[in-house]
Amino acid sequence: MRAISIEGGKKLRGTVHISGAKNASLPQLAASILTPETILLENVPRVADVDTMKSLLITLGAELEEDSHRIKVKFEKLSTYEAPYALTTRMRASVLLLGPMLARFGVVKMARPGGCPIGRRPINFHLEGLRKMGAEVVEEGETVVARAERLRGARIRFPRISVTGTENIMMAAVLAKGETLIENPAMEPEVVDLYNMLKKMGAEMEWNRDGIHIQGVSQLRGTSHRVIPDRIEAGTFAVAAAVAGEEVEIKGAEPSHMEAVLEKLREAGVEMEVRQDSILVRGRERFFPLHIETKEYPGFPTDMQAQFMVLLSFADGTSTIKETIFENRFRHVAELNKMGTRIRVDGNTAIIEGIDELRGAEVVATDLRASACLVLAGLVAEGTTVVRDIHHLERGYEDFFEKLKALGATIKEEGK
Ligand code: EPZ
Repeated sequence: MRAISIEGGKKLRGTVHISGAKNASLPQLAASILTPETILLENVPRVADVDTMKSLLITLGAELEEDSHRIKVKFEKLSTYEAPYALTTRMRASVLLLGPMLARFGVVKMARPGGCPIGRRPINFHLEGLRKMGAEVVEEGETVVARAERLRGARIRFPRISVTGTENIMMAAVLAKGETLIENPAMEPEVVDLYNMLKKMGAEMEWNRDGIHIQGVSQLRGTSHRVIPDRIEAGTFAVAAAVAGEEVEIKGAEPSHMEAVLEKLREAGVEMEVRQDSILVRGRERFFPLHIETKEYPGFPTDMQAQFMVLLSFADGTSTIKETIFENRFRHVAELNKMGTRIRVDGNTAIIEGIDELRGAEVVATDLRASACLVLAGLVAEGTTVVRDIHHLERGYEDFFEKLKALGATIKEEGK
């Protein structure tokens, strides 16, 4: 597997431009299935998961053009209703094909989605919701086959908040017969961005305290839409700047999507200047310890907990991070401890002791955000760090190493 090596100790300075959000662009690409007309998406990040979604759409029958960060999709007719196993098992977001395929074509067959090994990641809420809307869903081993003459509106309450669950049912409901109410929906900016795009396509929806009210329509039209910036990429660079910076300007971020993260950075003592669409972050040697609990939006995002473990390793005192979203999202702890961190896990809580320095080591990336935290640790460790299996990172960060090198990091890809 591919690896990179990082020379620790180089100070980061300059400007980094944030790409479009992976977790917004994936449902929006899936939403192109809902109409025979053209969908134009701008600010789409060039990441592996988007490539996988593009391949899935083309296999199913879409015509797709791309240049730089713009993707034009036209899904006039179905080529097949079977999504290839080799593609759907690569990422969690494949599950987002279910709703739009049932809504538009009434049939879909796919293997259960793959993705990060951060937990069992069942899709029972998705399937139960679609069954409530009249779909016949048959699960045979790893394969799911779903059919529906025409989905009908239903009242669907999520027993716990689910980001792609909310997105899937929303996309199923916009063409269903009658009214759907989604109760206890996820409110992540990526879900809201999909909602806004569907409205532009002619979906009849209203989001209020009860949840998301959807009146099914017979057809949706094409539209153009700009993907929101990636708040997790922006948060990752903010932590990089805090631990390894001189001073870094993070351009193109949407600070209003990052309040919980910015608040924790301030609490840790990080000096920042937050402007309309950029954040200036100054580096520092030591931080205040924190107690963090991951929560659904607008709470502290689970996708940022690994990155904060690096920062809190340089706190004066003991910090804790409680992971409430996934049941196995501490696989990066063992790798970080190889570099000299003193982190122990007690149930779903990680206890992070402040230490004086990290030392370079050979470590293995286990999932997308864990990979990022190992790179951040490498930036500040004494000596050289080698991170293996960096393909995880390329699923969700566009040009991550190039962006860090442009800020002054010394990173070499092995074998290049
Ligand atoms: C989305 O995953 C994101 N992925 C994840 O980002 C993110 O970590 C997660 O939301 C939480 O914010 C995409 O948007 C593609 P959930 P998702 O459904 O939708 C349980 C990254 O790093 N659950 O909100 O799969 C589930 O096991 C990735 O970019 C069920 O039990 O997450 C989890 O414990 C990692 N049954 C909790 O709910 C279901 O049917 C929240 O999961 C669905 C979910």
